[in-house]
Amino acid sequence: MGKLRVAVIGAGTIAKVAHLPNYRSHPDVELAAVADLDADRARHLAEEFGVKAVYTDVQTMLEAEQLDAVSICTPNRTHAALVRTALAHGVDVLVEKPLCTDVGDARRLVEAAQRGGRICMVGMTHRFRSDVQAIKRFIDAGDLGRLYYVRAHILRQRGTPAGWFTDKSKSGGGCLMDIGVHALDLAWWLVGMPDLLSASGQLVAGIGRYQTLTASRWQSSDPDNRDNQVFDVEDFATAYLRFAGGLVLQLEVSWAVNGPQDDALKVDVFGEAGGITLDPPVFYTEHNRVLTESKLSVESNHFYQDEIYHFVECIQQRRQPLCTFDQGAKVVQMLLAIAQSAATGREVRLGSPASQASSENGGGK
Ligand SMILES: NC(=O)c1ccc[n+]([C@@H]2O[C@H](COP(=O)([O-])OP(=O)(O)OC[C@H]3O[C@@H](n4cnc5c(N)ncnc54)[C@H](O)[C@@H]3O)[C@@H](O)[C@H]2O)c1
Repeated sequence: MGKLRVAVIGAGTIAKVAHLPNYRSHPDVELAAVADLDADRARHLAEEFGVKAVYTDVQTMLEAEQLDAVSICTPNRTHAALVRTALAHGVDVLVEKPLCTDVGDARRLVEAAQRGGRICMVGMTHRFRSDVQAIKRFIDAGDLGRLYYVRAHILRQRGTPAGWFTDKSKSGGGCLMDIGVHALDLAWWLVGMPDLLSASGQLVAGIGRYQTLTASRWQSSDPDNRDNQVFDVEDFATAYLRFAGGLVLQLEVSWAVNGPQDDALKVDVFGEAGGITLDPPVFYTEHNRVLTESKLSVESNHFYQDEIYHFVECIQQRRQPLCTFDQGAKVVQMLLAIAQSAATGREVRLGSPASQASSENGGGK
């Protein structure tokens, strides 16, 4: 088998730090092209990573290049259309999180992926962390017994990203869509991806437009909205989700909060036989009627590299990736159920018409 010809769509920050360097370092991949609406940004990154072909139109690129796969690294609201275009050209797809920002789109993307028999993955980066993989082993081995509660939070003191992220027409939502998607996905995946029964949520436009001097933040490569002039999304979100089997998930997310800073994403899982925390990774149980706390010894890994290499391996072996479109679609449904609940002030029950929330009608602020 020759090298896989891969293109990166969207020559922005995540393409530069995660996708391009790790495709470049993979011995079985040829970085064939970069596409971005902004020709200068595309050219600049293509030069940096030794990519010959540069396009400003994705359709033209897909027609001109014999590609095996693409990474889609563009703002959230563009994901659905770009995935559709890529699948129509018969290539495998890795799309950045979230899969998309609308429940109907999510369903159609799952169907399109299945119809085309393509390898389709959502970039749920945290699933590839070695500490996450370690705690997942305890949960999957049954060491926690019956699980009944999981909580996930990522509370940034001052970490509103600069750029399109605060513009709902481009992001589909605020901190919930941006970093809440990581926390929710990780907690849900760790506990075995149960079916959602209901969601209650609150989204708050609080202090995210701060003028604090110190804060560092994720920066879009696109100068548009760099000063967050358009800011029509939440900067704090909390939710309470009930799942089949009785498990409950509690979520807290902020871009800005007057409280302690979570340096990283925190997930705690509680079961009848044991409990486990992600940060720090500790297993809690009772042994000989004595409470014990066991610290897990885990070496950190290059999780972006592991994510990209996993996608490549799935293409080569034609096997389902760790984060499928189907799972990505369920996470989008959960995010939008939370937004719908926040907008209406009521619990959203799945299976009811209200559960068909979309980003167009569900983004309470
Ligand atoms: N997995 C992670 O840990 C992680 C971290 C940060 C961002 N992300 C995700 O990555 C995606 C991109 O984020 P970013 O911070 O790199 O954004 P960015 O603004 O830095 O880059 C996006 C690029 O996409 C280009 N673009 C927009 N529409 C396009 C189109 N239709 N065709 C081609 N190019 C187009 C823009 O010109 C821009 O250069 C988002 O979905 C974000 O949620 C993931």
